[in-house]
This record gives sequence, structure tokens and C-alpha cells, in this order.
Amino acid sequence: MFEVLKSLPPDPILQLMQAFREDSRPDKVDLGIGVYKDDAGNTPIMAAVHEAERRLLEGEITKSYVGPAGSAGFNSAMAELILGVNSPLIQSGRTAVVQTPGGCGALRMGAEFLRLCKPDTTVWVSTPTWANHLPLLGGAGLTIREYPYLNPQTLQVDFDAMLETLERAEAGDVVLLHGCCHNPSGADLSLPQWKDVASLIQRKGLLPFVDMAYQGLGEGLEPDAAGLRHLAGEVPEMLIAASCSKNFGLYRERTGALVLVSGTATINSAATSQLLSIIRSHYSMPPAHGAAIVETVLGDDGLRARWQDELTGMCERILHLRHAFAEALAPVGDFDFIARQRGMFSFMGISPAQVNRLREEYGIYMLGSSRVNVAGLNDRVLPAVADALRDVLR
Ligand code: LMR
Repeated sequence: MFEVLKSLPPDPILQLMQAFREDSRPDKVDLGIGVYKDDAGNTPIMAAVHEAERRLLEGEITKSYVGPAGSAGFNSAMAELILGVNSPLIQSGRTAVVQTPGGCGALRMGAEFLRLCKPDTTVWVSTPTWANHLPLLGGAGLTIREYPYLNPQTLQVDFDAMLETLERAEAGDVVLLHGCCHNPSGADLSLPQWKDVASLIQRKGLLPFVDMAYQGLGEGLEPDAAGLRHLAGEVPEMLIAASCSKNFGLYRERTGALVLVSGTATINSAATSQLLSIIRSHYSMPPAHGAAIVETVLGDDGLRARWQDELTGMCERILHLRHAFAEALAPVGDFDFIARQRGMFSFMGISPAQVNRLREEYGIYMLGSSRVNVAGLNDRVLPAVADALRDVLR
């Protein structure tokens, strides 16, 4: 019966990653998939992570099952990282956290949970949004609708258009927001804008689902969570999908968390039992290794301080590259928005033909939409990338 299936085109981000690997040019530059790179162009294992891993290997005494919720220590450390150490929500019993296989696992389990609550749930996503949001949420049976987010001419948030469209959402609809470092645009909401969105969501009875995939890589761990924390304090219910791929560099370890915020502790306890049953019927239990690393790092003062230093260094490096890139492109146009945006990504605002030329002639890889991973730049390749861009823009 498999003959009924037709071949699908590959995922564009993963296809680009593969094409880059197969390119034999020594001076090729990868600005495609969203992984952090250091000055040498490598994606290193963070020193705090390495040390935690060493301790785990020495101390580990069993590989027995943990359970569908994953490690309780990891879950409570993640709750504090995301919601804040003194968050009243954590004390109230209205919050539950489950460990998931990466941020994708959290998004999908959140979507399955929403469908269980309301089978005809509509989720509003930003235009544009991360391409994988659509299959992750739509594949669970949610209806996807879009709200305008980025003005394609100015490459800035079109906040009025966003609010105007969300006014048309109905009570019980879900709004997917990017906690920080909007993927693919790098254009984030300001704190006053988060406050306006929170009031709209509260007034209309919408349910926020926040994707927090880059905490610590925009402006720092605390400022990056400010909008989300304000929102969490205003609404009765909320979902948060968090990823440790970028801020702990644990990409292939598939480490993430889904946070559930309910109206009361009693509702939360019943809702959590349903969420655990969904997890059990999908993958039974999450993988342990990455979460054990995060738990070890966050649970040890010395390792935590080392991790925070490393993360701050990564964040500052991206900010430095954003400014240097905008400056290098100044002679051919106004690219100041790159310096103002946050996180790994920005659009260059060039055509698919120009993107293709950069790849064919210069070995510079970016997504067809012209999204670049700024973290893929370094002071060595930046002048050549800026020259090539100047050339295709001329
Ligand atoms: C990206 O947007 O490049 C990353 O989130 C990696 C991925 O899985 O797509």
C-alpha cells in the first residue's frame, strides 16, 4: 500500500544544510540553518556543558526509565529560567512543566493538548513565522490562520496591522508568539508592545502559546523573557514551548520543555494528567541525556555561572556582528535594521535570484527568503560577504 505515497520535496532549511555540506569550496559561508557559530566558524560544545557531561558520565548509575514528564529537577529549573526565580506562578500550583524532545516536541505536544481541549482550535501565527511551525501545529489538526507581523518593505514589525487582525480572532483562539529573537525576522516586540498584546489577549479571551527558542541570545536571559513574563502574569491560561538547543548548544540532544499555565491549581492538575497521557501515547518518555546536562549546569552555582558567561559571550558576539554587518553594508543601502534586530536571524530583503547568485558565484548560503543567520558570520568572512552582497545589489 505504500505505492499510494508521492515523494515530498525536502524541508528547505535541512536541504540547504545538506547542500552546504556537499559544497567543496573552501571559502563557502553558511548563513543558513540556525546554529550558533564561533569566530572559527565552529559550533562548539559549551565548556559548562562539557563539564556537566563529564560529571554525569562519572556519576551515572542507571539507564532505567524516568517517566513521561521527564526529570523533575530539570522541569523546576526550566520553570525558574523561563518564568523567573520568584515567579508567583510557580508558587501558586497553576504551572506544570514537562521535559520534551526539543522545542519541536514541546510545540507538538502543546498542539495535541490544545486539540484535546477543543478539537476545532484555530491558531494564529505571525507572517512570516518559522516554516516548521506550520506542520508542527497544523499536523496536530489545528486550523492555522495568519496575522501580519513584518512589513516586507521596512522589515520592521507592523504592530498596527498585527493588532487589527488579532481583533478579529475569537475567544478560545490561540495566538502563537515568539518569546524573543523572532525567527525568521529578528524583529521583536518591545515591552510596551507586549503589554498591548497581553491586554488584547486578555480582553478577547485568547490563549497565548509562546515559542521561546532563543532565550539569552537576544539581549540576555532576563530581558529576553520580560515580555513573556508580563503576559504570563496577565492571562489565566498559557502554553510555553522552550528549547535548550541554542542557549545550551544541545541541538542534537533534543532538549526542551512545555510549560502549562492554568486558571487554578485544581484545573492544572487535571490538565497535566491529560498532557502526560498524550505524551505517553506519542513517544512515552523524553530522552534523558540533554536534560540531565541542563539540570546539572543549572543546579551547580559554578557551572551555572560559567554557562551564563559563555551565553553572554555568544549574545555579545551576535550583537557585535549585527553592528559590523550593518556598517559594512551602509554604502549600498540602509541596513540599520540589522543592528536593531535581535537573535540569530534577519532578512536581507533581496530577491531569490540574488540569493541564488550569492550561493552559485560566492558560496554564500542563506534561505531562499533571504533569511541570514548572523551568527554564521565572523570578522574574517564578513568583508567578503559584504562585498558579495554589494555586488549583487549593484
Ligand atoms: C532554523 O530556523 O534554522 C532552526 O530553528 C533549525 C531548524 O530546525 O529549522
